[in-house]
Amino acid sequence: MQERINKLKSEVGSFATDNINDLENFRVRFLGKKGFIPLLFSDFASVSSDQKRKYGKLINDLKNLTIEKITTLKTILEEKSFSVSNTDLTLPGDSFSVGSRHPISIVRNSIIDIFTRIGFIISEGPVIEDDNHVFSKLNFPPEHPARDMQDTFFIEKEQSENTNNFDILLRTHTSSVQVRDMENSSPPIRTISPGRVFRNEAITARAHCIFHQVEGLYIDTNVSFADLKQTLLYFAKEMFGQDTKIRLRPSYFPFTEPSGEMDVSCLICGGKGCAVCKHTGWVEILGCGMVDPNVLDNCNIDSKKYTGFAFGMGVERIAQLKYKVNDLRLYFENDIRFLSQFQASI
Ligand code: DAH
Repeated sequence: MQERINKLKSEVGSFATDNINDLENFRVRFLGKKGFIPLLFSDFASVSSDQKRKYGKLINDLKNLTIEKITTLKTILEEKSFSVSNTDLTLPGDSFSVGSRHPISIVRNSIIDIFTRIGFIISEGPVIEDDNHVFSKLNFPPEHPARDMQDTFFIEKEQSENTNNFDILLRTHTSSVQVRDMENSSPPIRTISPGRVFRNEAITARAHCIFHQVEGLYIDTNVSFADLKQTLLYFAKEMFGQDTKIRLRPSYFPFTEPSGEMDVSCLICGGKGCAVCKHTGWVEILGCGMVDPNVLDNCNIDSKKYTGFAFGMGVERIAQLKYKVNDLRLYFENDIRFLSQFQASI
């Protein structure tokens, strides 16, 4: 047995190959089920007990030597095949396409970015809401047309009560998140709420049943209309460029008093008048106002102590101005030819 082991040992020691198949044959010959080394182990059973220690060690050493040899040769062969024979390192790499952000996400992210820079935090609320948060607490009278079946997607109508406060519906605006913010925290509150909203409208180039809004709310002591105006001017300049001008027109919303709508100087013609601004030089981008004291009281905020402003803007509207894409349907069709034209850093 000693002799057999020595012979095999020198065979392992001198084995060399640059062929992976030869190496595999070598492995099978030595370590395979019926290979030399398993055979030695089975013969080992008949070795006399005083010799077992000696031969056990010799066979184990041979086995380790063989495994080591195979591993070393395998590594060398693999490195060789990668670096020399198959790889042309001068070939250009395979290109792969990087996705792009949806234009609505790009605009929403830049709105968020602009407001978070001046201390607004982000809050979100549920898309499936109740009448209380979408209408009642925002001072909408019970007969207000915005509650109408024509505008609102109702999910569950409250039958038994005289009130519609508990109707379940898809929110028609993100102003509902204001209510939740006011209910759940106390002033100072400075928050923006981006999200999806739903209205029961026929889908055309100019209207859609789903769109996106960003709501803003600031409540503290001594918040004034001047604060609102300055905040919105800052936003308009950051969003559309430092030369942008704003103008505020009186308007009406149940939840703000006084209320306004804000226009920005037309980006396309710089205010001279064109088709986009209908030759007025101005385009409307948002609604705003001072939070109606009734709304503060409805949400357990002392209207004698606190005042606040709010605003709400449509993300699609701003995307239309920024990208000059006027058909709203394009934003929802997920046509890759449209989407891949938008690139963003945020
Ligand atoms: N919720 C209004 C809408 O959907 C937008 C709006 C107007 C929000 C005035 C406000 C606001 O917070 O003060 O048309």
